[in-house]
Amino acid sequence: MYVDPQRNNEVRKLNLPAIQKTEIPKKHQQEQSNMNDNNQQVSDEMEIDPDTEQQEVQKQELEQSQIQHNEQTVTTKETQTHTDKPPPAVSTKFLILGKKTSGKYNLTDFQILRTLGTGSFGRVHLIRSNHNGRFYALKVLKKQTIVKLKQVEHTNDERRMLSVVSHPFIIRMWGTFQDSKQIFMVMDYIEGGEIFTLLRKSKRFPNPVAKFYAAEICLALEYLHSLNIIYRDLKPENILLDKNGHVKLTDFGFAKFVPDVTYTLCGTPDYIAPEVVSTKPYNKSVDWWSFGILIYEMLAGHTPFYDSNTLKTYEKILNAPLKFPSFFHEDAKDILTKLINRDLTKRLGNLQDGSEDVKKHPWFSEVIWDKVLARYIETSYEPPIHQGQGDTSQFERYPEEEIDYGIQGEDPYGFLFKEF
Ligand SMILES: Nc1ncnc2c1ncn2[C@@H]1O[C@H](COP(=O)(O)OP(=O)(O)O)[C@@H](O)[C@H]1O
Ligand SMILES: [Mg+2]
Repeated sequence: MYVDPQRNNEVRKLNLPAIQKTEIPKKHQQEQSNMNDNNQQVSDEMEIDPDTEQQEVQKQELEQSQIQHNEQTVTTKETQTHTDKPPPAVSTKFLILGKKTSGKYNLTDFQILRTLGTGSFGRVHLIRSNHNGRFYALKVLKKQTIVKLKQVEHTNDERRMLSVVSHPFIIRMWGTFQDSKQIFMVMDYIEGGEIFTLLRKSKRFPNPVAKFYAAEICLALEYLHSLNIIYRDLKPENILLDKNGHVKLTDFGFAKFVPDVTYTLCGTPDYIAPEVVSTKPYNKSVDWWSFGILIYEMLAGHTPFYDSNTLKTYEKILNAPLKFPSFFHEDAKDILTKLINRDLTKRLGNLQDGSEDVKKHPWFSEVIWDKVLARYIETSYEPPIHQGQGDTSQFERYPEEEIDYGIQGEDPYGFLFKEF
């Protein structure tokens, strides 16, 4: 088991099969660097190719509508298992290979600025395009580490899945490249930081705030599942906020095209579904379990099966009763009971109408889903981004390392990453 140290001494990420523990590094409080010296105005969309000249992005007039009340009565279907789903609209071949992402960029196209995040296999940097002056995020993974931790297939899947997806609440990847030691993925830079950071600062979110983020994530999951992609690593660390406060799901490190079932034990202990813990074959319904854990964590400030000892967390996932703090709304308790359900034939999201059942649950009764998808709902919180598009004030500081990117030399693992 590979356990990655995460923030606040919480052990969050699990990547099998290497069995080892790593030290929890202390966060270094370094001084803010002066790299954000530009006062560039932020445009609504970050979707500008790093190679293109700076463009005027049209500002959409967003209808500032609150989450409105929907008078309709909602009936939920339970106990029916999810069968006979129509095949995905996208061809399997495309999903397996994804579009070509290599060869479009290389390191000389960018300046590498500070580190935005570190994970089990590499780090994510803020970068700036030498062509259009805009900021992007660069995820860098060391080939040797990927091989050592047996993550070659997951890493190739990460590229493929990111090259296939296109959704308002999912990160956009522009291209990939490699040198002899690393692989690189260029993505839009999402400047509002992680929901994790906001949640730890706020301790917990009020019911409507949690519901707003959950609604946007629900649509992202629905979209991924419609392509037969399981996400498998839903948690607040992987959910970013854009400058307006809408979510962007990032980190496709465990995302996989799974039309039927799969077996790999991966994810983050607190968020892993019981069928994964007990190494049974599993499907997309694991994401609905994690979705329940996410809603619970946003409302309570902690996950339901938390334990400082990971093995005890697993034991609780398998056996412990789901308990709620007294302040949880009745509808919230009801949807959580149905999502965090060990019985797969009863788990919401895994029933006859799939994600529709989740969207029709009374906890979401006031949500107008079309407006959520169109980002027409006023966000609960706008990240304080004052320095334009390259503002990094919402990210924690990480100790910077010497980087040796761009070296072309002996490349013993290159053959494993041909699509980068
Ligand atoms: N596109 C992005 N824009 C801004 N920050 C990002 C972006 N992608 C990742 N990050 C930051 O880097 C962290 C690590 O990236 P992630 O893809 O989750 O890697 P890992 O697989 O190591 O968890 C994220 O939790 C987030 O803080
Ligand atoms: Mg991550």
